[in-house]
Amino acid sequence: MKPNTTNDQMNRGDFLRSLGMSSAALMAFYCMGTTLTACSGDSDPAPGNTGTTPPATSTGLTGNAQTSKGAINFTVDLTNADFSKLKTQGEFVKVGDVLIANTKGGSYVTLQRLCSHQSEDRVVYQLASDNFFCSAHGSSFGTDGSVKFAAGGAGQAAMKLYKTTASADGNTLTVTA
Ligand code: FES
Repeated sequence: MKPNTTNDQMNRGDFLRSLGMSSAALMAFYCMGTTLTACSGDSDPAPGNTGTTPPATSTGLTGNAQTSKGAINFTVDLTNADFSKLKTQGEFVKVGDVLIANTKGGSYVTLQRLCSHQSEDRVVYQLASDNFFCSAHGSSFGTDGSVKFAAGGAGQAAMKLYKTTASADGNTLTVTA
């Protein structure tokens, strides 16, 4: 092949095709890369918002957010700087063993923090799709915790959904098992 400007600028896919690789072989090649999310069944791109993880000692948190210490039962103060982002749709925080998101439409949803596939701490909320997504292998979950795409196959469990109640003034959330 004679080098020219076009060939010098061809992308990886074009280059591999020029070698005669089929589409399936190309996909397998991409999947060997470091970004496994490119191979998932979820059409949502990897999220840009990674949320926030306030310190466990935050004064905005009262009660128990860790399953190892008993039933989940806590409140968060949304006027506290550690949690005030939660007043914005699409934002989410990771607290103890749960993840709280302000979802599309403004309702709060709390799910278990670790993915039901391989317990990775890479679950995020994505406003555009109104889904939770794990960037480890591409599992995705609805706002009720149900599995939308199972990286682990048909037997993958749903995410545990916790009851989340906002106070009348919207400044406090209560999360219970
Ligand atoms: S650990 Fe989340 S998709 Fe595998």
